[in-house]
Amino acid sequence: SLSLSLSLSLFSLSLSLSPHGVHDHFHVVNERKTWTEAQKYCREKYTDLATIENQEEMDAVKAALNGVSGYFWIGLRQDPKQTIRGFWFWVSGSTICYQNWAPGNGTGVEDCSNGERSGAVQSGSKQWISLLENQTLNFIL
Ligand SMILES: *[C@@H]1O[C@H](CO)[C@@H](O)[C@H](O)[C@H]1NC(C)=O
Ligand SMILES: *[C@@H]1O[C@H](CO)[C@@H](O)[C@H](O)[C@H]1NC(C)=O
Repeated sequence: SLSLSLSLSLFSLSLSLSPHGVHDHFHVVNERKTWTEAQKYCREKYTDLATIENQEEMDAVKAALNGVSGYFWIGLRQDPKQTIRGFWFWVSGSTICYQNWAPGNGTGVEDCSNGERSGAVQSGSKQWISLLENQTLNFIL
């Protein structure tokens, strides 16, 4: 019961840290851009493309995607200089712990021969998919 009350107080601590601990405001930008252009836009006007670090943040992204459809760039990038294929990272510098990849995506067994890949959220499944970065999509910041 000591550990229960400890975890309960940690839980209320993390709740009270919100919204600073959990990023709960995401915005969909309806301007089709390549991933690189979308990131440049976000860095100039705001902070960066969206980083989604946990289920709460993914839920906030789902809410932002309510009523829209398609694929939306987020701040997920595959390291073009990495020799190990499939090394993904958040451009914000956050470590990828929480993941929400669609089956077959983000696994490291994708075909990288055809250009650099970046991550997007699919509005239907709300899962992450890997796409060539030169495709033009709307995006989330
Ligand atoms: C990634 O997910 C999409 C959507 O579910 C799917 O169509 C695609 O085949 C997947 N990619 C791979 C390499 O499996
Ligand atoms: C994206 O780049 C790939 C590889 O360089 C190329 O084959 C493809 O045609 C490009 N697609 C677009 C939409 O420009």
